[in-house]
Amino acid sequence: MLDIKDLHSGYGELRVLKGIDIEVGENEIVALIGPNGAGKSTVIKSVFNISDVTSGNITFKGQDITSLKTHEIIKLGISYLNQGKINFTNLTVRENLTIGADQIFDPGTVQDGLEKVYTKFPDLKTKENELAYTLSGGQQQMLALGRSLMQRPSLLLMDEPSLGLSPKLQQELFATIASLRDEGISMLIVEQNAKKAIELADRTYLLEDGNVVLEGGKEILENEAIRNVYLGGRY
Ligand SMILES: Nc1ncnc2c1ncn2[C@@H]1O[C@H](COP(=O)(O)OP(=O)(O)OP(=O)(O)O)[C@@H](O)[C@H]1O
Ligand SMILES: [Mg+2]
Repeated sequence: MLDIKDLHSGYGELRVLKGIDIEVGENEIVALIGPNGAGKSTVIKSVFNISDVTSGNITFKGQDITSLKTHEIIKLGISYLNQGKINFTNLTVRENLTIGADQIFDPGTVQDGLEKVYTKFPDLKTKENELAYTLSGGQQQMLALGRSLMQRPSLLLMDEPSLGLSPKLQQELFATIASLRDEGISMLIVEQNAKKAIELADRTYLLEDGNVVLEGGKEILENEAIRNVYLGGRY
């Protein structure tokens, strides 16, 4: 579905990614882990063409998207859940969900998307006319995810969706993520908690200093390097 080949990318003169290969298959949850500054967010930004790709290729469903514009990439069905807060805090919950989507889809499709999001996150329905800044941290995260889902993606790129959530809300979020996979959405997820990420994902890539240094399924929990890193508390 998403195929990243020999990708070199960075920001101006700064080279961050040094020739990485990452694949996300249909109906797959793929996790990206690694220390701060390793280039995880840059992988996602490269797919969205908001970092400077210097060489390599990114294809989506067989189409080369490496130099497409961000809005064209969204239209193809790839959605981006940004690291940190991305809601419009002075708009209502409902406005946050519909803004953007109403530029792409007809009103019926927007309404249908809204109902699906409200079914998944009943808190958002209860608060649909409240301003987004009045939501709790967890509810804001749900709103951000809801906004991504309004774009009806077949591939969702999530940058640290669990950041700042309580353990209980993290658990709920991971359950939601698993349910999205069952609904046919493929996902690439950047996650700080390596253990949680590996347990959730079908496959995990470990990124260090702009290189993929390890890739595998849940068995990499037993990998010595990974275990040492846990014990060191680096992740
Ligand atoms: N917009 C930018 N302009 C210039 N340099 C940037 C920009 N964004 C990131 N960088 C640099 O690129 C490198 C990789 O950053 P990136 O955000 O991809 O790391 P990360 O793995 O996501 O880290 P974290 O876990 O802290 O989110 C860092 O050295 C960072 O300072
Ligand atoms: Mg990051």
